[in-house]
Amino acid sequence: MSDQVHEHEARTRGAFTNRRVFILAAIGSAVGLGNIWRFPYVAYENGGGAFIIPYLVALLTAGIPFLFLDYALGHRHRGSAPLSFARLRRGTEGLGWWQVGICFLIAVYYAAVIAWAVRYTFFSFNEAWGDDPEGFFFGDFLQAGDPGVDANLVAGVLVPLVIVWVAVIAIMVAGVQKGIGATAAVFIPILIVAFAALVVRSLFLPGAAEGLDTLFTPNWAALGEPGVWAAAFGQIFFSLSIGFGIMITYASYVHRDTDMTGSGAVVGFANSGFELLAGIGVFAALGFMAQAQGVAVDEVASNGIGLAFIAFPTIISEAPAGAIIGVLFFGSLVIAGLTSLVSVIEVVISAVRDKFEMTRQGAALAVGVPSAVISLLFFSTTSGIYVLDIVDHFINQFGILLVAVVSMVVLAWVVRALPALADHLNHHGTVPLGGWWRALIAVVAPLALGYVLVDAFRTDLGEPYSGYPSWMLNVFGWGMAAAVIVLAFAAARVKWRPGTTMETTGALDDRTTTGGN
Ligand code: ALA
Repeated sequence: MSDQVHEHEARTRGAFTNRRVFILAAIGSAVGLGNIWRFPYVAYENGGGAFIIPYLVALLTAGIPFLFLDYALGHRHRGSAPLSFARLRRGTEGLGWWQVGICFLIAVYYAAVIAWAVRYTFFSFNEAWGDDPEGFFFGDFLQAGDPGVDANLVAGVLVPLVIVWVAVIAIMVAGVQKGIGATAAVFIPILIVAFAALVVRSLFLPGAAEGLDTLFTPNWAALGEPGVWAAAFGQIFFSLSIGFGIMITYASYVHRDTDMTGSGAVVGFANSGFELLAGIGVFAALGFMAQAQGVAVDEVASNGIGLAFIAFPTIISEAPAGAIIGVLFFGSLVIAGLTSLVSVIEVVISAVRDKFEMTRQGAALAVGVPSAVISLLFFSTTSGIYVLDIVDHFINQFGILLVAVVSMVVLAWVVRALPALADHLNHHGTVPLGGWWRALIAVVAPLALGYVLVDAFRTDLGEPYSGYPSWMLNVFGWGMAAAVIVLAFAAARVKWRPGTTMETTGALDDRTTTGGN
């Protein structure tokens, strides 16, 4: 019976053929630029070895519990983020559209960073950056002027960005299993092998031990700073792909008899394992670079963008057989980024599809083409890097974290849906969700995230982020974060097509127990 339902769903809205593909796709989504490009410097700047404590606290008290919440919503209600929320309770649909808006904004800039990595994979062969990787990155490559907005397109970014979007749209048109699932099944094993090779290579470079010392030497005093805890929660949500609708959407494509909580535990720990591996690989390489230049490691460890596109070229130039390191590193960034980008854009596609009853191909083009155009117009210009930096900062805090807190409060205290959602996962999982899960989602995680958000508001209201002009922060930072909310609640007022059922057929099989899938 359940298999027939699954086949019907696979034909009508798409589905992963089995649990293995789902887990690979979910790992593909989670492991992304956040793990390779962001985690090492976030960990380093926030207490080094001591960061592991807030990181683990955030993972266990908010990350994994919230992942289960996303899974429960999507798996039980079998819809995109807005449809799943609407089926749970009509009035909460706007929360789903809020997440769709966040995904749209992330997708348009995330693609640009992948495009940079595509270009740098090729630059690695002839070390195109010469002896000034920093000047090359900002000057020759991005041609960045002063912060502002302009329409001067940079061909060196435009061309790879077009290629990235063509690849993404082709994957999205191919569908859930043949596009997203197949891409993950092919590329995730390649990513693991390539990245493991990179880490091993880095560990054998002279100076690697000093790099690891720098990363892991705990600065215990950092644990007293709220900003460090904020960084840990922010990192976990972005990295696990939770709070922006991705896991709701993916869970809706999973066979009803699948062990969801067991799968979630695998995905959560795989993601953190990869993140730790990235930290080790990157800091071993930085240790080498510091030794080669005769300086301390903390002098070469700079912010996220710099770490990937400035420090690594330096390492590639100085290390024996550096081109191999370059291809492994930037190639890994491209693969990890691409398998995450498809998950981000799928949130938008599935929502549009559900709302307007479009075909998969129609929705993939209707979402993919305008996204590509906006991405190209804003992020392949000489001002692209500034807009990117601002949107990334604001949408992570006042988008992802904010919608996560609001969703938890609404689901726990207004709709009072946690018992039903826990019940669903208890019928479809091997990790029993008891009172501990409800306590974490209803009380602990919202309090922790709420505290983090208040601190973030205070910091960003107190001083302009990274010293950007206030009009830029108002438009691309605060403005975008607010516009997403307004548009989301407007979208929730648009009527569903008459054919869209608000009945949750999936909830019916809460009585069945999990099969061996
Ligand atoms: N989870 C994805 C990442 O870490 C978005 O980059």
